[in-house]
Amino acid sequence: MGGPEESESIPAETATFVPRTVVVTGATSGIGEATAHALARRVETLVLVGRDAGKLGAVAAALSAEHGGANVRTHVADLSRMVEVRRLAAELRASYPKLEVLVNNAGTYFSRNERTPEGIERTWALNVLSPFLLTRLLRPSLTAAAPSRVVNVASAAHSGARLRFDDLENQRRYSGFSTYGRSKLALILLTHAFAERWGPDHISVNALHPGFVRTRFGQDNRGVTAAVIRLAVRSFGISPERGAETSVFLATAPQVEGRTGEYYVRSRAVRSSRESYDAASGLRLWELCSAQVGLPASEEGL
Ligand SMILES: NC(=O)c1ccc[n+]([C@@H]2O[C@H](COP(=O)([O-])OP(=O)(O)OC[C@H]3O[C@@H](n4cnc5c(N)ncnc54)[C@H](OP(=O)(O)O)[C@@H]3O)[C@@H](O)[C@H]2O)c1
Repeated sequence: MGGPEESESIPAETATFVPRTVVVTGATSGIGEATAHALARRVETLVLVGRDAGKLGAVAAALSAEHGGANVRTHVADLSRMVEVRRLAAELRASYPKLEVLVNNAGTYFSRNERTPEGIERTWALNVLSPFLLTRLLRPSLTAAAPSRVVNVASAAHSGARLRFDDLENQRRYSGFSTYGRSKLALILLTHAFAERWGPDHISVNALHPGFVRTRFGQDNRGVTAAVIRLAVRSFGISPERGAETSVFLATAPQVEGRTGEYYVRSRAVRSSRESYDAASGLRLWELCSAQVGLPASEEGL
């Protein structure tokens, strides 16, 4: 196996893959909103998830106006709260018994160490536990639509990160950036764990880095760090539309059919960090995340 810089070309498009129903989380801003715009003309039912009903309504209205006739649905949930993730999953399962694609895009970075009302560090809750729980709870709808796809928006910030299994929520020495990098490493480890478990059911699970993108990323933080991020993305960031390209590719491209457990940058499969392939860490993380969200680690009978 090659180093992280090695990439693999995906064969040119050979057929048309038209996913009927696609769910995009974090669809009210940045990469998620651009992903929704790109998908609106390609799918039958586009399901937007956000935490702010007003913003969701505005994005849905803009999509319908732009792509006349697009069937756009909205669901409100604060994804940093597991009780809301469970309620959302129940709503989605009931509304969409067949789901071809789930794009786990919502995520952010927090400069301050704070906990959700459920007592979980916010980055860990939103970037790791939320996509883990949502994906597991949507398995029936994904299985019913198989071959189906899960697309996890990770980040190159996972490179160089190491998980501390005795302190997954980074309470010993909190740093916003380390915590963010570790959360994305955890998401890629879980991507590999899902791929191994769900491959036989023809549900593919892949992760991606969208690039350095001009969005509202991290702007809910105050102070110097938020100002530095704002300046950096304004100066060097690519557009949200370009940032959404790899998500849209993984959600729709026929040439990635059946490919799973991979990490993509600029719509090409590349190696993620060495740590992200540690199967023992992936298994341990799966078990710890399962315990944290109150699911059995084993999926038999679920
Ligand atoms: N921008 C980059 O350079 C970059 C690089 C690598 C990876 N990423 C990843 O790309 C993904 C999208 O980020 P972005 O850059 O597009 O940032 P963004 O513009 O801040 O968008 C983040 C989205 O997540 C939603 N969100 C945040 N907290 C939420 C919560 N508690 N419950 C439900 N939804 C919530 C936001 O909702 P509101 O609209 O209500 O805030 C928004 O829709 C993230 O996973 C991020 O880690 C970004």
